Amino acid sequence: MKAVVLAGGKGTRLRPITLDRPKPLVPVLNKPILDRIIEKLPCEVDEVLLACNFQKQKIENYYSGKEMCVRVIDEPEPLGTGGAVKNLENHLDEDFLVFNGDILFSLDIEEFIEFHKQSDGIGTLSLWQVDDPTRFGIIETDERGSVSRFKEKPSSSEVFSDWINAGMYAYTPQIFDYISSGERVSMEHEVFPRIIEDLFGYKFRGHWIDIGTPTSYLEAHQLLIDEEERGGERIGGNSEINGSIDQKTSLGRAVKIGDGAEVKNSVILDNTTVEEGAVLKNALVGSNTRIQKNVQVEDASIGDNCKIKPDLEVKDGLRVWNQTEVTEKYLREV
Ligand code: GTP
Repeated sequence: MKAVVLAGGKGTRLRPITLDRPKPLVPVLNKPILDRIIEKLPCEVDEVLLACNFQKQKIENYYSGKEMCVRVIDEPEPLGTGGAVKNLENHLDEDFLVFNGDILFSLDIEEFIEFHKQSDGIGTLSLWQVDDPTRFGIIETDERGSVSRFKEKPSSSEVFSDWINAGMYAYTPQIFDYISSGERVSMEHEVFPRIIEDLFGYKFRGHWIDIGTPTSYLEAHQLLIDEEERGGERIGGNSEINGSIDQKTSLGRAVKIGDGAEVKNSVILDNTTVEEGAVLKNALVGSNTRIQKNVQVEDASIGDNCKIKPDLEVKDGLRVWNQTEVTEKYLREV
């Protein structure tokens, strides 16, 4: 059986972390999220097809020379979640799996495949229960798991289910009959409505999170730390901590935290330095960045190769783009 991972999105919501780094290679506890997905696949998956477009070369370089059955397939332009699958039609002649490339999950994939085979539909969606489903696609199923209704990103008054599409799918090749080729097609908006009678939902419990936004990226770290499902390092090799970091913080490799600096609930990527007295809370910081003395960063994201001058504040959801030197109080995105 083959598995497809959709790895061609631009990851705009997670910028600046995804400006120079494709989202599937964004690390969670020092391991790219795409590696974490591939590791979960059962033995019966003998090949992984990566549907790539944006920053494809970086994904190709990362997997070249690695002993994994991974093929990077070019998508000449972003074709959306449906078009990306159609683009792989020549490689898929039996039932196959599809995964979004930005999720952490505890789905039992073997059981999921079994459910798909038993249901005899064209497509099976994995379903995850959330408190607030308004930023997701909601799905209603009957007692057999047959999908009866769904709605993308409902407003609060439109919510009829708290089960959401968790971004893992199983399809039969018949799905290709419902997707036009060579054009941008959304599986959720254009294909699912046409196959609703052959669409099933499989509910699972355990854990699930996407890393699509700064908040959920930080939460994804929490989840792995709390579940002790790390398979990665919370503090990367050669990092040096002279100040303090809390249990919710993760550091990349060769990160330096200076005397008296304090870091809480934050993720800091490789080779970044946080100088004396700086305070970081709910912060995302890219690689090769220098946060100088007594800077305060709270609820903000800072990109790669930046420099934040001493005593400044970066707060309130602000995002500092890569290669920026911040020299004065930071009030807007640059
Ligand atoms: P945002 O720009 O922040 O919405 O992120 P995104 O571009 O990654 O989109 P989204 O989070 O909706 O994508 C979910 C999954 O589908 C991710 O794994 C993306 O890499 C993937 N994806 C989205 N659009 C495309 C596409 O056009 N082609 C391919 N191959 N993958 C896509």
